Amino acid sequence: MLKEQVERLKRVEEEATEAFVEALSSRQLYEAKVKFLGKQGAFAELMKLMGRLSAEEKPQFGKEVNLSKQRLEGRYQEAELKLKKQEMEERLARESLDLTLPGPEPLGGARHPLSLVINEVVEILAKIGYSVRLGPQIEGDWFNFEALNIPPDHPSRDLQDTFYIDSNHVLRTHTSPVQIHTLLNEKPPLRVLAPGSVFRCDSDVSHSPNFHQIEGMLLDKKVSMADLKGTLAFFIKELFGSSLKVRFRPSFFPFTEPSAEFDCSCPICKGKGCRMCKNSGWVEIGGCGLINPKVLMHAGVDPKQWQGFAFGFGIERMAIIKYGVEDIRLFNENDIRFLRQFE
Ligand code: PHE
Repeated sequence: MLKEQVERLKRVEEEATEAFVEALSSRQLYEAKVKFLGKQGAFAELMKLMGRLSAEEKPQFGKEVNLSKQRLEGRYQEAELKLKKQEMEERLARESLDLTLPGPEPLGGARHPLSLVINEVVEILAKIGYSVRLGPQIEGDWFNFEALNIPPDHPSRDLQDTFYIDSNHVLRTHTSPVQIHTLLNEKPPLRVLAPGSVFRCDSDVSHSPNFHQIEGMLLDKKVSMADLKGTLAFFIKELFGSSLKVRFRPSFFPFTEPSAEFDCSCPICKGKGCRMCKNSGWVEIGGCGLINPKVLMHAGVDPKQWQGFAFGFGIERMAIIKYGVEDIRLFNENDIRFLRQFE
């Protein structure tokens, strides 16, 4: 009886060994362990047969079973180790990083559309002798108003239009005070451009409390409105294309006399009429005129000896026309989706 049972034990051990060695994954191996060594496994079945053995045979068989189990436990661990190692290697191969691959492309920077316009305007007018001057953004009342012949009761001095720092200082409401700084500091003849930030209490789709202007000023002997118009015509043609025309409309500024507003034929529809020009065929660009002799005298320049012209226009407006931007607020929001269109 004992011999027969030991034979069975041997066969079970062989089967189990084979199952352990042939398992293809940790999971299969574990299932084999349960099948042979588990509570309802083949070994447990064998133990049930103990009852058929004699009293002397029982401990002998028990010993054989234990030895067999120990051997299998060892083989199981061996197989487990081998499979775990193999599985780890597979995972590492699958998940490996290739450090030689190029990284994601860095986002390139781009110039702000307002800078693009300023650069282009400066470049164009540099061809006919203009160079850049900068002035302070906080101005004395005298520079922003008084010297420019803007009287104390002028509407532009109203609190509703001007940001006052104190009773004597304002955030400049235009770039024209740079005319005064230049006239005071430099000797004519002069051809200057002054781009920069200006401020007015105003905010809606087409007005920002902080916007930008470019001021142009020429001071020389015998300067006329014809020189001014020729200069602006050259400038507009260079900026928007040679087929465009410039026109003057009589206007008023305290610091120029005579004064005009200048328009150009609509660069979008070339004068046929469209949304940009509100079907008029013309778009307004800015203000201009011959420098008022009173302004020259305020700055210590003899108007009998020197005359000049000046012009000024909004940069946002230029960018709107040039790039078809619909809302002036986009220029200040720093939205990357807007800015990337100008790369
Ligand atoms: N400073 C004027 C404005 O802000 C524009 C201007 C500049 C007009 C120079 C005439 C001459 O509206």
